[in-house]
Amino acid sequence: IELDQIPGPHGLPLVGNAFDIDAHNPIEGFIAMAGEYGPIFKVTVPGSTRLMVSGPELVEEICDDSRFDKIVGGGLANLRNGVVGAGLFTADTDDPLWHRAHNILMAPFSVQAMRDYMPRMLDIADQLMEKWARLNPGEEVDVPADMTRLTLDTIALCGFGFRFNSFYRDTPHPFVQAMVRVLGESQARMRQLPLQARLRVRAQRQLEEDQAFMADLVGRLIAERRAEGEAADTTDLLGRMITGVDKQSGEGLPDDNIRAQCITFLVAGHETTSGLLSFAIYYLLKNPEVLARARAEVDEVFGDTAAPTFEQVHRLTYVRQVLDESLRLWPTAPGFTRAPFQDTVIGGRYAIPAHTPLTVLTPALHRSTSVWGPDAGEFNPEHMAPERLAAVSPAVYKPFGTGMRACIGRQFALQEAALVLGMVLQRFDLIDHLDYQLRTRTTLTVKPDEFHIQVVPRPDVH
Ligand code: HEM
Repeated sequence: IELDQIPGPHGLPLVGNAFDIDAHNPIEGFIAMAGEYGPIFKVTVPGSTRLMVSGPELVEEICDDSRFDKIVGGGLANLRNGVVGAGLFTADTDDPLWHRAHNILMAPFSVQAMRDYMPRMLDIADQLMEKWARLNPGEEVDVPADMTRLTLDTIALCGFGFRFNSFYRDTPHPFVQAMVRVLGESQARMRQLPLQARLRVRAQRQLEEDQAFMADLVGRLIAERRAEGEAADTTDLLGRMITGVDKQSGEGLPDDNIRAQCITFLVAGHETTSGLLSFAIYYLLKNPEVLARARAEVDEVFGDTAAPTFEQVHRLTYVRQVLDESLRLWPTAPGFTRAPFQDTVIGGRYAIPAHTPLTVLTPALHRSTSVWGPDAGEFNPEHMAPERLAAVSPAVYKPFGTGMRACIGRQFALQEAALVLGMVLQRFDLIDHLDYQLRTRTTLTVKPDEFHIQVVPRPDVH
């Protein structure tokens, strides 16, 4: 089967399928298209055709690093041109600096290293707990907004010792405002023709200002750290990047690359993890028996400690199943794109020319009934029970991407999410006072839209 025979919705000339795709929540539309058109389908938007893959067998092939490589396209390519530069996320695999940074950063992101980040993760988690504990009766919590404050502050503190103090502000820190605008602009440009982008003079000027502001702030942090010399903190990510040497090449990272990495961690690490926490809380609210079991585990493991330890967090195995299951239904980075090195055939029948981008649509992949059974669309942490997982191929569950280019922050995100979800369950009853119905919103990542709840300190403890 050639590319032009791959099925997909019929679009209008020129605009393609742009009208079939809801700009605010495209993912739900794509999941429905996967159901209708099958394991691989095609959507046409102005300027390009995208192939979306969600069949488990096809994805397994596409994840083979010897035949396929990550492709940096669309919004990611727009980011690379700016201040995010060639950070790990946006660099090509054959860029020598990607290898060097990858080699230097693997150890600081290992499970072992996560022990060192516990005090800082706890520092920020405490700020969330204190905020929630001090609400007046009847006040609401905007879950994704508070979770974004938490994850952003956590990665900035663990990453480079900087405090955004998001819990003490109504409007985001200027750096965060600049970052959000830069991300929004890189997305907007994906939907525009190059000429249109050039005509938007004000947007261009704002983009340049924002990028300069971000580069300047992070650049100063790096310079200050270097100036501290021997006395400098070497336990956070910045300290480890400044002192780290790639064993393969014997070289360290240049400052502009360290800067790109710091900004990359903020971009890649905050919305994804905050979306995960928001979806997990949503699913717990809607599944009281799961919530009861998760809470029983937390009560047993945490007891009434005010400062959970690394060991305690890693003993929360059922909470971890809840998180893994949330990422199955709503992988908050909802896809990744790869292309074959050479002309190839996948699934024994689809002819894919070299370098053709194929986007793995993980939310659709993860709902495959052939893998998870007839209740694949339902939230059920039993899907993630260790004995169940042992029977499925690792290729069918890809919330963190795949192979060499998989998420380097996975352990970081999971530890942070387990700590915070554990502390929330330990301390609060969650009240779904609006009977929230899930709607998602997608920017670079996907999260529940307009998700408000009430929280009440548990009467039975503390
Ligand atoms: C890569 C998901 C948290 C840093 C990725 C990729 C996915 C992903 C799907 C692969 C992207 C691709 O192939 O194009 C997630 C999810 C997270 C999360 C779902 C939370 C639940 C984090 C955190 C950090 C981080 C906390 C940093 C502190 C990165 C980086 C890469 C990456 C640097 C690029 C790795 C490389 O190509 O060398 N992530 N991520 N992520 N993630 Fe995450």
